[in-house]
Amino acid sequence: MSISLTTSVPLEIRQTPHKGRGVFSKSSILSRTLIEISPILLFSHSEYEEHGKHTILKQYTYRWKDGYALAIGLGSLFNHSRNNNVGYVKDFEANVIRYYTLCDIESGKELCINYGLKKKERSQDEVEEINKWFLEGFQLVEEEGFWSEKPASIDGMLGGFGSISNLDIKTSELFLSEFTRGKRGTRNVLTVPPRITTKYACDCGAGIGRLTKNLLTKVFDRVDLVEQTPKFIQHAQNEYLRQEIGTGKVGEFYCVGLQEFSPDPGKYDLIWCQWVLEHLTDDDLVTFFVRAKKGLRPNSGIIGVKENVNMIGYRFDEEVYSVTRSDQIFKDIFSKAGLKLLKESTQHGFPKGLFSVKIYALEPEAY
Ligand SMILES: C[S@@+](CC[C@H](N)C(=O)[O-])C[C@H]1O[C@@H](n2cnc3c(N)ncnc32)[C@H](O)[C@@H]1O
Repeated sequence: MSISLTTSVPLEIRQTPHKGRGVFSKSSILSRTLIEISPILLFSHSEYEEHGKHTILKQYTYRWKDGYALAIGLGSLFNHSRNNNVGYVKDFEANVIRYYTLCDIESGKELCINYGLKKKERSQDEVEEINKWFLEGFQLVEEEGFWSEKPASIDGMLGGFGSISNLDIKTSELFLSEFTRGKRGTRNVLTVPPRITTKYACDCGAGIGRLTKNLLTKVFDRVDLVEQTPKFIQHAQNEYLRQEIGTGKVGEFYCVGLQEFSPDPGKYDLIWCQWVLEHLTDDDLVTFFVRAKKGLRPNSGIIGVKENVNMIGYRFDEEVYSVTRSDQIFKDIFSKAGLKLLKESTQHGFPKGLFSVKIYALEPEAY
């Protein structure tokens, strides 16, 4: 097997004020760029337990399939950050670690990975850290009114990327169509009947109702909205959804955070959550899903989730107090909430530099 170790990304090692040496970008780098491939030196478990872990190697080694690995090259020089801008993938076959940028990076920035914690401690400690950080952050965002300051418009809902709205909606409509209209084979014969009825949907974290207007009311007879920012609800009621309200397509407006929302039992064919779950802690997300399950029409209703996903682990945004989770973290949360994955898909066609976006359809494990 031959392994190429070259990447075309100019990086340099610099002395940092507090953390010794670190790795820095020498030019701007796009998100998801492969920036380093480090071959590893493998220590067996016994060699590591008896010798390695009593030396400086302890601070540099990665857990490996059959022991511990020292990354040769820049891999050992990346410093740690909870807001890491670089992630890595261990290749056990080739015995290398590949490092990728997780966001667009300007020239001269330090490149950091997240060392994580010891495997056993990891999830509990990380969850506690997230919860603490969120609780502080929630208050701050509320005090500073982060969302209330955003314009009540499509652009405001999408962080300035209003232009992606049509493609986003088309993709979601297609994703949902097998549940709402069933599947058709040759000569348009229905091979799988529709999974859900299209009577009632709920738009969670609805904002001004972009999805209610352009996706959900096009498919469902009636749609409720859950949104915690009063300004957006007022805009939806007075302007954006005036027509849909007039024709009876819009039901209730719940001005409440999802962490407190409890749907009426058995009410909805679809509970749709898009670009909002990043504002909930893991714990709140699990309990929200548990309550949401009860709000589904018995034996048929589904939950739809469409969210940004991080390549690996958590990524915190300290301006908005939001957290982008990896696909695996979402799946762990679904399973903790007793939800089964029915279908998953990836959004294509969004501009480069944005997070990757995944769509999931879920049903209660015990239907
Ligand atoms: C990025 S916008 C997305 C709006 C809409 N889902 C869309 O795709 O157009 C996020 C929305 O979630 C709302 N939000 C933030 N935290 C929330 C929470 N904990 N519960 C309910 N809504 C929340 C914000 O006020 C904002 O309207």
